[in-house]
Amino acid sequence: MDMLADRVFETASARLKMMDRMLQDGRCPKCENEDGSLVTTDIWWWCSGFYPGSLWLTYEYTGDKELARLAARHTEILSPIQFRTDDHDVGFQLGCSYGNGYRLTGDTTYRAVICNGAHSLATRFNPAVGCTRSWNNDRWHFPVIIDNMMNLELLFLASELCGDSSLYDIAVRHAVTTMKNHYRDDASTFHLVDYDPETGKVLRRQTVQGFADWSSWSRGQAWGLYGYTMVYRYTGKKRFLSHAEKIADYIIGRLPDDGIPYWDFDSDSIPDDYRDASAGAIIASALVELGTLSDDEDRSTEYLATAEKILRRLASDEYLSEPGSDSGFILRHSVGNKPGNDEVDTPLTYADYYFLEAFIKYMKNQKLFLRMGVAPLNKGLSRSDWSLDRISVNRAHQGRTGASARFPSGKPRQ
Ligand code: GLY
Repeated sequence: MDMLADRVFETASARLKMMDRMLQDGRCPKCENEDGSLVTTDIWWWCSGFYPGSLWLTYEYTGDKELARLAARHTEILSPIQFRTDDHDVGFQLGCSYGNGYRLTGDTTYRAVICNGAHSLATRFNPAVGCTRSWNNDRWHFPVIIDNMMNLELLFLASELCGDSSLYDIAVRHAVTTMKNHYRDDASTFHLVDYDPETGKVLRRQTVQGFADWSSWSRGQAWGLYGYTMVYRYTGKKRFLSHAEKIADYIIGRLPDDGIPYWDFDSDSIPDDYRDASAGAIIASALVELGTLSDDEDRSTEYLATAEKILRRLASDEYLSEPGSDSGFILRHSVGNKPGNDEVDTPLTYADYYFLEAFIKYMKNQKLFLRMGVAPLNKGLSRSDWSLDRISVNRAHQGRTGASARFPSGKPRQ
């Protein structure tokens, strides 16, 4: 995997720098048109944090200062988001950009943005419902989408950074409510639950971006898996670990042989249907982490093996952008919103971000356990191991005697 990771981050470095040259000031990448031309957005689109996040992650791996400079520039244009109260996705927007920036630089102005952003997000919490509201529009009364689990990370992080336990409490309450009302008995999730904002009663369960209300929209399953794994990382509460494991087992049971999900597990066009690389990347990142957190040895092994299978497939010529192409994206073949016929079979910034994150986590896991002299499975990384830059994965500064040289038979030296 380490040679593959080197190749991935070499590609990422070239692509992300190219993307910077293609972007006008204040614009963010969104996807590609059918002719391969770049579609951009302003900073308010929910995905604006992923490109700076990918720059930070690639800097983390390569140590290339040029990437850090670009990451800071593309992070800092998002500053107005910290006061945004009209949407839940401030968590994605600020967490991937300022969150990684703070983790890697310790810049205290970044910490202030994270704390402001979390307090803006917390204004969307309704105690009668027990959730933060996802979208503002008249189509629903109080919509909460499964994707919103991801935004809880900003609340947990800010709770630690600015010492405000109310942010932690909101995040836990949202996770508990969502576990109760979004999930079906088989551990698959609905996309959207609409609540009565006065009483907290569930009014409707449905899809927006999936195949049908009853179906399993792949990215929704991925957000939930990642979300509950992350909530366990911050809280240490076993009920969240157990829920994440159930979701993982469900997802693994429904993945095609090569590990990359169709855009909806229940689409009626399978096998002649689109894959969603973004769902694959999110699942891989979550499984790498869950594989280290699970107390169950068999599950750990299966989660890490599945993550590795997905990452190897995403890093193949089928998905990784061609070296000579003029795309600023890293991965092909994601699906944003199939029912809306928007972003179908295109690169997407969050596919790139979670793909890189999964590789970094995977390499950290290998390196940490090599250092500890134990097998890189099932030993439970602590939160600080993941979130602080204690374990460098920067192979460029280690010469070529990386993990594979010390890992000849797939097992670390004892
Ligand atoms: N709303 C986030 C997504 O499309 O997955």
